Amino acid sequence: MGGIFGFICKEPKDVSLINIGLRRLIYRGYDSAGVAYLGNNLTLNVMKILGNVSKTPLNISDRSTVALGHTRYASRGWPTIDNAHPLLDCKRKIAVVMDGIIDDYDKIKELLIKRGHVFVSTTDTEVIPHLLEGSKDYVKSALEVIREVRGIYSFAFLVEGVNKIFVASAGQPIVIGLGENCKFISSDLPSLTGFAENALIIPENSVAEISSEDVKVYDVNYNLVTPLTKRVKYQEQIAEKGGFPHYMLKEIYDIPSSLISSFSSLMEKYLSLAAMIVYGAKNVYVIGNGTSLHAGFISSYYFSEVGINVNVVSAAEFPYYALQNVSTGSVIIAISQSGETSDVIRSVKMAKLRGAVIVGITNSVGSRLALESNIYLPITAGPELAVPATKTFTSTLVVLRTLSIYTGLNSGKKDRKDINEFKENLEELSKNLLSRLPQMERQAEEVISKVEKESLYITSSGINFPVALEGALKFKEAALTHAEGIQLGELLHGPIALTNKGYPIVIVKPSEAQADDLYNKVIRSVLDRGSPVITVSPEGDIKSLETSRDLSPISNVIPLQLMAYKLGVKRNLPIDTPPGLVKAVVS
Ligand code: AGP
Repeated sequence: MGGIFGFICKEPKDVSLINIGLRRLIYRGYDSAGVAYLGNNLTLNVMKILGNVSKTPLNISDRSTVALGHTRYASRGWPTIDNAHPLLDCKRKIAVVMDGIIDDYDKIKELLIKRGHVFVSTTDTEVIPHLLEGSKDYVKSALEVIREVRGIYSFAFLVEGVNKIFVASAGQPIVIGLGENCKFISSDLPSLTGFAENALIIPENSVAEISSEDVKVYDVNYNLVTPLTKRVKYQEQIAEKGGFPHYMLKEIYDIPSSLISSFSSLMEKYLSLAAMIVYGAKNVYVIGNGTSLHAGFISSYYFSEVGINVNVVSAAEFPYYALQNVSTGSVIIAISQSGETSDVIRSVKMAKLRGAVIVGITNSVGSRLALESNIYLPITAGPELAVPATKTFTSTLVVLRTLSIYTGLNSGKKDRKDINEFKENLEELSKNLLSRLPQMERQAEEVISKVEKESLYITSSGINFPVALEGALKFKEAALTHAEGIQLGELLHGPIALTNKGYPIVIVKPSEAQADDLYNKVIRSVLDRGSPVITVSPEGDIKSLETSRDLSPISNVIPLQLMAYKLGVKRNLPIDTPPGLVKAVVS
């Protein structure tokens, strides 16, 4: 995985411009970075660095009309300079950057070595420059790569002496920003903000040949095609920390406004259509990974309330047992904030082949999930750059809840006044959060002093149980601390034994009144055993906000996000870029 950013212009530009684009793509990987550009007489220059390009920018003072940069997540091959992109052919005339994974690179590499090619890296990417070597027609050769090399990837390359950029997509997104005097290449749309107002989405299995004047896109059969054009959005919010020390904290503070933008960006006609399809479905699966899966778990409470049973399945597990029950009449609600996670895309493709309708929920307009979906509901949380997801979780819940209410209009369990009531509750929560976030942040800092151990439990019941799972995930990512989310009742069936060792227990008060007795019983038992208890509720040690049951997961998750964040700060960790993690897991 990685982030690709490049430009080709009519007049020379500072090559260091590449740093701006790469910084915006840093969520895609930060193990190393590099750039290739054409200098005087179109000679190829390459520069690489180890580490995070947003902290140590590529130090180049040259100007050029064409440059191609990359920031890398080391998925195949260690983070070394040799493995940093761009990777070159034997003659050092072709420089390739890639995003994604090549499945069969070892066989291809073996074959190329037999043919006399010399490899300097242990990456999968390096097979591409060697496959392109000696080409007379780079579009044709890139199409051959796509046809013959298995995997989900996109790549771009420069060739010495050729004032063009070539771009190919075999499943990974790559877009071309159409600026006035320059064209920009990027792995995502938001990073193009300020560079271009419109962008072409390069379709899967196609190759683009880009000059400063025009863009030609070819399908696998070498026919010219017209790709989809999208507006580049999120202008005002682009990727700056706005005075916050970390993106994660900034993005938590974005939650109040993103709740509202997520609701108001949903279009009635798509909601109604999606709701009708969900209501009429033979069976409904909700799939996602990590945080998106946790949002999916909460949706089962929403849909159950309107009389619809949904099966919530990890997208990684979906093919193993759920897929066999998918056929025409099935609906897959696929959630992925990045819209690129391989497990989700793979499962969606398999389900489509069996006749399912895909309702995609994603924060990334030009993403693969958006393109693969029959109906697409945007999350509209704005760009989220910290690897630990925060505002996309709460905004995904807004989308899922709205969809469930619309589904309830079909089942007769809801009426239009429920939509208005939800909107009012959401606005009130957003307003209250805005004023209460600083206090929550202070409380999070105070209570975190109780967490000295390397492990903790987070527990709750009912609709807030998935919040415990989500909170635990945040502790793992932001604070590199083991945390386990567990149902309140289940805590008594064994896990409570460990509380003798003083493991802290964070208890999120359930919203369901039936769970009150259990809640009080668990607090007593844990305190009796000598473990520190941190309660999260409107009256708790860290105060969440009073709100409706459906919105309580939003109110309760924020204290957990803030606690995980504060523990990460206390331990001086790279909160936004946890070691070995990236924003979208492509495998
Ligand atoms: C969330 O904090 C994690 N970074 C991770 O679990 C993430 O939610 C998961 O990889 C799914 O990502 P997606 O929503 O982009 O598909």
